[in-house]
Amino acid sequence: MTSSIEELLAKWDGEAVVTRYDAQHDAYLFIGVHSTALGGAAGGTRMRIYERPADALADTMRLAEGMTFKMAAAGLPAGGGKAVLAVPRLPIGTQRRDLLLRYADLIESLHGTYRTGPDMNTSAADMDVIGERTQHVFGRTPEHGGAGSSAPDTAVGVYHGIRAACAHAFGSPELAGRSVLVQGLGGVGRVLLDLLARDGARLLVTDIDPDRVAEAQRAAGATPVAMEDALSTPCDVLSPCAVGGLLTAQSIPALRCRVVAGAANNQLAVRDDARRLTEAGIVYAPDFVINSGGALHLFGLELLGWSAEELAAKLAGVGATLTEIFRTADAQGLTTRDAAEALAQGRLDAARPSAQPSPPRPSA
Ligand code: NAI
Ligand code: PHE
Repeated sequence: MTSSIEELLAKWDGEAVVTRYDAQHDAYLFIGVHSTALGGAAGGTRMRIYERPADALADTMRLAEGMTFKMAAAGLPAGGGKAVLAVPRLPIGTQRRDLLLRYADLIESLHGTYRTGPDMNTSAADMDVIGERTQHVFGRTPEHGGAGSSAPDTAVGVYHGIRAACAHAFGSPELAGRSVLVQGLGGVGRVLLDLLARDGARLLVTDIDPDRVAEAQRAAGATPVAMEDALSTPCDVLSPCAVGGLLTAQSIPALRCRVVAGAANNQLAVRDDARRLTEAGIVYAPDFVINSGGALHLFGLELLGWSAEELAAKLAGVGATLTEIFRTADAQGLTTRDAAEALAQGRLDAARPSAQPSPPRPSA
């Protein structure tokens, strides 16, 4: 059974949830501020249809927590947050603009405790609209002073992560001849495909949109895989670049890959799935580390004044961080998820005024 809003609020370890019901659009706006230990919370705005507002709140909370770890593991001066606009249908035109402006007012009222950016179903153009009412927004179009889409650099980070995971699993980072199944050919997955093709990987692809699959087949020579076979098709690397929650007690035993390394946020249904992957002999690149390229792009270019070369070096660093995590996990008998969280938690603890280590977390 899914939790109620009361249960979710009672058990969350984040700092605050800001909620507004927008009657005009029948939309629930949730902003989750998980941690401001390393700076104002930051994370994208997800627009989605949910069955119940409690499901949207649960998503907000999990995603916000993931952002805390993402920012800390990436060494960025930001806390973790996330916003969910739970809508009855995806709005377009003036309806969309109106909703985004009201949401922007809500962000502005928080004075930088939460800073937003694009996420599922929100774009750089949406960030331009939000930017009309608040400066606490990343990822506007370059014409409006932003760094544009974070998807291509997320793909670059994932590419470096796949190489690092292959080095760990197979003893070599080289991708020539390796089979890589990319699930989801959107902003991230499609760019990733080209990077993998350039290295001579054997490409397998799947997407709910048949046109995207056909294009990848035509332009990148990829082999299509039926959606329902995505997780059980034999391959060296499975790269989830679509939706989260796909790695479960049911799906993990069916996996026929040696590496899981992709962009999707919250790939594990529950924490224990990391253990299941380890026991199945699968190298799992923790999502909040391998997909940090988008955050590096937005913060590096908009806030930290990085040059293109500095950003490229940071994106390559995603691979180096993962190598460190894989080694720590092996050496200490941890899951890669726990090793990644320990790395992030160490940075969070160091930022606490008392420098007290945080209490151990219960395993879910
Ligand atoms: P997108 O919305 O551009 O692309 C998603 C693609 O997945 C679409 O082609 C869609 O048709 C497909 N898809 C949706 N459900 C599917 C399913 N069940 N099976 C197969 N394909 C399916 O999203 P984008 O920007 O490419 O992001 C991909 C993932 O990476 C998302 O989970 C996102 O949260 C995550 N991510 C994205 C970042 C970014 O900067 N864009 C940064 C960090 C994480
Ligand atoms: N939504 C993207 C992510 O999950 C990009 C993003 C990063 C947006 C940081 C805002 C802030 O990484």
